[in-house]
Amino acid sequence: MCGIVGYVGSREAVPLLMAGLTNLEYRGYDSAGIAAFDGTGLIVQKCVGRLSALGERLKNEPVEGRVGIGHTRWATHGEPSEINSHPHLDCTGRIAVVHNGIIENYQELRAALEAKGHQFISQTDTEVIPHLIEAALSDGAKSFEEALQTALKLARGAYALGILFKDQPDRFYAARHGSPLVVGVGKGEQFIASDVPAIVSQTRDVIYLNDGEIATLTPDGVRVTNLDGQEVKHEIVTVTLRAESVERAGFETFMLKEIHEQPRVLRNLLDKHVSPDSSVLMPGFGLSPQYFKKLNRVMIVSCGTAYHAGMYGKLLLENLTRIAVETDLGSEFRYRDPKIDPGTLIVAVSQSGETADTLASVRMAKSWGCKTLSICNVPGSTLVRVSDAVFFTDAGPEIGVASTKAYTAQLMAFGLLAIHIGLSRGEISEKDAQTLLRDLQAIPDAIHYVLRRKDSIRAIADKHHDGPSSLYLGRRFNYPTALEGALKNKEISYQHAEGYAAGEMKHGPIALINEYLPVVCICTKTRDEVYEKMISNVKEVEARHGKIIAIATDGDTAFDRLAEDIVFVPPTRDEFSPLVNVVALQLLAYYAAQARGTDIDKPRNLAKSVTVE
Ligand code: AGP
Repeated sequence: MCGIVGYVGSREAVPLLMAGLTNLEYRGYDSAGIAAFDGTGLIVQKCVGRLSALGERLKNEPVEGRVGIGHTRWATHGEPSEINSHPHLDCTGRIAVVHNGIIENYQELRAALEAKGHQFISQTDTEVIPHLIEAALSDGAKSFEEALQTALKLARGAYALGILFKDQPDRFYAARHGSPLVVGVGKGEQFIASDVPAIVSQTRDVIYLNDGEIATLTPDGVRVTNLDGQEVKHEIVTVTLRAESVERAGFETFMLKEIHEQPRVLRNLLDKHVSPDSSVLMPGFGLSPQYFKKLNRVMIVSCGTAYHAGMYGKLLLENLTRIAVETDLGSEFRYRDPKIDPGTLIVAVSQSGETADTLASVRMAKSWGCKTLSICNVPGSTLVRVSDAVFFTDAGPEIGVASTKAYTAQLMAFGLLAIHIGLSRGEISEKDAQTLLRDLQAIPDAIHYVLRRKDSIRAIADKHHDGPSSLYLGRRFNYPTALEGALKNKEISYQHAEGYAAGEMKHGPIALINEYLPVVCICTKTRDEVYEKMISNVKEVEARHGKIIAIATDGDTAFDRLAEDIVFVPPTRDEFSPLVNVVALQLLAYYAAQARGTDIDKPRNLAKSVTVE
């Protein structure tokens, strides 16, 4: 939800701001803008649409300067338009602001400022910030810092801000409350960005600002204070992320690259967490086997794709640990007044670690005295910093808006955690654990096998991408896979898709089935009766002439006459089959989107990281 950048130093600011914004464009692409000081003053350039449109404008009307801020927008308040694009200015044009977040009390602030004579030109919440600072300056604030503190004390909601002040062309300011912001510390130059990948090609030394902090950035250094002006000392953290990991590496899209990275990501996770003698290793984890022994309830909270991972986690944890596990969407959990006792472990799943509803749920649970464990991909993210324990999914930066490698890494995390907790509680034996781990270790190769068959998956997608709708059916461990496959399809191909528990089909969605509806049926072999039940469901679809696309186990002939198309996947243990099956569905969605000509890495209306409610 919006990306912000800033630079001060001895180099030209605009190319650096544009490079940073290129890496942040996945956070929003409704409009883009920059502000910089050139020799004459504060110059703003902004454009509706993609960053490339701003790039074109800057070619014709270049902006020079060694200090600047930039923004790429996902519209919340006010339609995507030039007027609503950031940076926003005060009445005098001396203060420029870029913002990620939402100022929730902006209407009352705006009304009060308008009553004092301030002129607003946009429909955004952000515009109140430069006006509040301007008002504090004219009310006698002794310094710009003091005016900024006064303004921010009045603003309620979430913000990461970059701020330029015309009278101080040697510096810029940044502030954070509830939205992600990282400060990059260089030699004779400083940066800010919404996340590390945007600045990692310039510096690896970073400061993670805390909520309620303001940074003043000059070429000589960074000074951090709280909203009362008291200095706050910060440790500089050196991040390990490599600049190449935010490049497409020859793939046509980030999403395709990330789909192909899955075997490596999962193998690395296995190498990190499985010892040569086949036990689960939890380095620096923070929750002991004794803790898990006594635990009797888990609540998993997450959103979107991460919610589907949570649904899978529930099934696996219940199975291998016999703990009662529930799942909920962050946006529901935080408003439903759930009955949670302090003994419940809250597990938050999030790629970004910045999803507003997931974070709010964790904070709420902490206030009730619950312990919190996060399964997260981004070190230094807010979720990581507020959780008691963290399982890092280590998938590397995920740039494609549609989550792929982060999802399978979340499933793998649940696999490893469930085995670890099951063992700690004595619910599974050492021998069971070794067998489970061996089966988990077979997953990266099984995914490779699916990736090698991508041409046949593309042919199926080419055949079925045209219709208005499709249905995805799965049972038990693959019910979340059906939901995730449908989500992938709708978010990148814009074809309506519905995921359903196959056994529920008779209770409604069967009415949708006719000879035009593609029905993706996940029917890989299982050890129990689920497989047979799934065959019956497929037959019910066949009887109504639905176009069946089966995801089946290699060598299984049961669908030869039932299905119009079959994607074969290698045999895997039931519990872990979702890690493989979902890759086939990711590719199916990918090629459908390609055939439909959408912008796969930046699907319309979406943003990678949902930092607002
Ligand atoms: C995934 O394809 C989506 N774009 C989206 O549902 C995402 O999973 C969700 O917004 C949660 O994000 P998080 O994992 O960063 O918390």
